[in-house]
Amino acid sequence: MKIYQKVIVYIESQLLSGALQPYDLLPSVRHLAQVLNVSKNSIIRAYMVLEQTGTIQAHPRKGFSVKPDTVYEQAPKPIPKKVILGATSLDIIGPAQRQADVIFGSANPDTRFKGRQDFFKQLNRLVRAELKSPAIYSHYQAPPGDINLRQQIAKKTHCGYAELDAEEIVITNGAQEAISLALRCIAQPGDIIAVESPCFYGILQCAEALGLRVIEVPANIPDGIDLKQLAETLNRWPVNAILLNPHANNPLGFIMPDDNKSELLALAQRYDLAIIEDDVFGELIHSTQRRRTLKSMDTDGRVILCGSLSKILDPDIRIGWVAPGRYFDQVNYLKYVTTLATSGLMQHAAALWMESANFNRHVKQLQNRYRQRKLLFIESLKAYFPAEAHITVPESGFLSWITLPFWLDGDIIFTRAKAEGISLTPGSLFGTEQQFQHCIRLNFSTFDNTEKQQQALARLAEIIIEELNSQT
Ligand SMILES: Cc1ncc(COP(=O)(O)O)c(C=O)c1O
Repeated sequence: MKIYQKVIVYIESQLLSGALQPYDLLPSVRHLAQVLNVSKNSIIRAYMVLEQTGTIQAHPRKGFSVKPDTVYEQAPKPIPKKVILGATSLDIIGPAQRQADVIFGSANPDTRFKGRQDFFKQLNRLVRAELKSPAIYSHYQAPPGDINLRQQIAKKTHCGYAELDAEEIVITNGAQEAISLALRCIAQPGDIIAVESPCFYGILQCAEALGLRVIEVPANIPDGIDLKQLAETLNRWPVNAILLNPHANNPLGFIMPDDNKSELLALAQRYDLAIIEDDVFGELIHSTQRRRTLKSMDTDGRVILCGSLSKILDPDIRIGWVAPGRYFDQVNYLKYVTTLATSGLMQHAAALWMESANFNRHVKQLQNRYRQRKLLFIESLKAYFPAEAHITVPESGFLSWITLPFWLDGDIIFTRAKAEGISLTPGSLFGTEQQFQHCIRLNFSTFDNTEKQQQALARLAEIIIEELNSQT
């Protein structure tokens, strides 16, 4: 698309959203050129095309206005869509992560904490015991899984005040398996689930693999999913479940306020829907206060809570859980017929690690560290990145979402950065269409402000500036 065509798309989006109405004066050529950071010629050419197509009219010495009879429908409401991402994220994330010198890409936590070493010491002790006295763990640890681990999860994470019994929890291979089991239990191919938009691509791809349709309901900072649009969506479409990531949301970093959670639960009750709560970042709140999960407010077992040790310990050990509420039997059975078991050795090691007195201290340490890193990281981004880049300051977690001018392509920035050994996640993965093509997501979990990281950020900023300049 040429620059002037992108300007046309911009004006049309303003008309669609109602920001520009019939008779409204359009911005002056000079002003819009500045705002969009494009040349005045591109604006003039766009205005001329819009004039020829009868959308706007010229007024000598006054500029242009929207023609009185220009009727644009309001922005389309969210509708169900099939997800067609293919293996894009696997292509993009896998090799790019492994080859990168400086990693701002996939949502890996910092794995240099002492707590993680403690876990591996624990594992080492178990392995040595196994070598001395073989076959202790060589049986399938059938679902729902190791009772000690389930007790620890119920006790130590408190599932965000949900006060669950260990018996209500099923161990899974990470939160991803928990989400997949929950979706399979609730929805059949062709069914519709409502998700936040932008949405973690792992969820979109899971929906794709299961043949589900998704309705992407806009989510905003600081409130999370737009409840008004969600209510309209539920009124209009036969939605089977709502899937949310309400704490330290990936990618926006918001924490859904408790009042909104209550409203959401009331909506789910009204339409008798299941809620899948992806709480994978739930412990990583940058304050002393763990937030209440939707599960903790649920009075009739409709919330399926999914969590894991991936973000607080190590994604590689693949220990997650699901508290399926009224869907327990189906989820437990599906876990059994899908992956049969989760490694008994890992479950045992995780249980011992969580039991040790250091668990709470470890989580506190992570919260503090990520809070400090956020400040450092955002400061550096602000120092290097051009004013056109809108930097999201996450409330919690370790991800930052950057919105660039709409005509920039995050995939190109991703590819150029990758060629220079810098990984990041392109925004295109977070939606079913191209609505986040101009965004990128950066991970600051390991950001220590080293010279190498500073240079990488400076270079990334240069790439963005070069792309901005090349488009004007
Ligand atoms: C929002 C969200 N949900 C789920 C997952 C998957 O987590 P796990 O590693 O526990 O499978 C991720 C991983 O990045 C995530 O960001």
